[in-house]
Amino acid sequence: MTPPPEIERVLFTEEQIAARIREVAAGISERYRGRSLKLIGVLKGSVFFLTALARELTIPVKIDFLGISSFTDSARGSGMVRIAKDLDDPIEGEDVLLVEDIVDTGLTSRYLLQTLAGRSPNSLGICTLLDRTPRRLVQVPIEFRCFEIPDRFVVGFGLDYKQLYRHLRYIAVMHPDKGKGLA
Ligand code: IMP
Repeated sequence: MTPPPEIERVLFTEEQIAARIREVAAGISERYRGRSLKLIGVLKGSVFFLTALARELTIPVKIDFLGISSFTDSARGSGMVRIAKDLDDPIEGEDVLLVEDIVDTGLTSRYLLQTLAGRSPNSLGICTLLDRTPRRLVQVPIEFRCFEIPDRFVVGFGLDYKQLYRHLRYIAVMHPDKGKGLA
């Protein structure tokens, strides 16, 4: 697939992503061996990652999805999050992994972790496709991560720019004049 002109360079190819997801899935299957696991995907960015990950797991898996809306609280100058679509089922007593596309500032993950922890799961962790630490505002514990990335805006494999590019099979860096103002 020829990258569109807005793409500066491919960061991770389809093959690299698949190989890394297999490795991470093996670690997850090992960690939860003998138990079943509920994967909770955060719409929409984590959909491609969640499905690829779920298919590589060798333990019993359930899936559910959360939809969120992010908005900026100008008074506090930080991104705020609320749940726009809740889970279909309770998670009480279950082993739960929150599946994220990217942990950036950490605000979304922290909010979701706090919210889900209040529903008494047996265990709760985060598995993220991408981890971009330079912009972190709050610390969140990440159990499983596929890739650490530099401080650039990325698209593909579920991640979007204005709702576009989610379908790309690779993860790519946008040209500097695109995306969230990142250099
Ligand atoms: P947070 O800053 O950790 O709360 O991340 C919030 C959300 O912003 C992520 O779940 C992504 O959906 C989105 N996001 C952050 N960085 C990028 C990026 O580089 N490309 C596409 N979406 C991003």
